[in-house]
Amino acid sequence: MTAKTTQAGRRLRFEIFRYNPEDPESTPHMQTFELDETPYMSIFIALNEIREKQDPSLQFDFACRAAICGSCGMMVNGRPSLGCRTLTSDLPDVIKLHPLPVFKLIGDLSVDTGTWFREMVEKTEGWIHAQEAFDPDAQETRMDDDTAAAIYENDRCIECGCCVASCGAANVNEDFLGPAGLNRVARFAMDPRDERSDADWFEVVSNQDGVFGCIGLMACHDICPKELPLLEVYGYLRRKALSSAMSKRG
Ligand code: FES
Repeated sequence: MTAKTTQAGRRLRFEIFRYNPEDPESTPHMQTFELDETPYMSIFIALNEIREKQDPSLQFDFACRAAICGSCGMMVNGRPSLGCRTLTSDLPDVIKLHPLPVFKLIGDLSVDTGTWFREMVEKTEGWIHAQEAFDPDAQETRMDDDTAAAIYENDRCIECGCCVASCGAANVNEDFLGPAGLNRVARFAMDPRDERSDADWFEVVSNQDGVFGCIGLMACHDICPKELPLLEVYGYLRRKALSSAMSKRG
């Protein structure tokens, strides 16, 4: 579907969550700003214009403006979205912006996704586990095309946090690995260079904080801005957990 460029002469109303947790005087509230829509206006463009011309204290994050860095995740009319990739022409005249839930609030629309992702990586040991020491002079390890393509699919995650914010389980269980965490586990579990056994993976994901904590709403699959195959990820991890459990029973 081709995105609309703009709707003629629209005056947009932005209702934006404001709160600075560092300021004892600050209280959470919504603040309204108005703006004339321009062709191909994204939430990124609109917020910059508001900050430049109306309120320099407005906090939000952007870096790449191209759906690559993952820093601009926010709730746009209740849906976790990338601000740089969301066009105002696809939205009604009133646009409500909130910070992503689950993550620690830095201020206004800015959240700290970095700490959450670092803790998740440490908890799942999300890196290649191999006995042999890395030799930078050795030839590249070869793998078959299908495996490389499957790993690449999972590796496309930009860690924006939109899936985590949309996840019912992650919103109530702070220890839940979340869709991004399970995706990372799957990425290494299917990598032939990672020497962890099925039993090792069982310890990581076969519990309520792992793949069995998912309550199946699958909002993550619907909203992932990179359209990662998260349904397949859960299927893969559940099959892996099952085969590990079966082999334990002997
Ligand atoms: S600014 Fe980098 S993903 Fe939006």
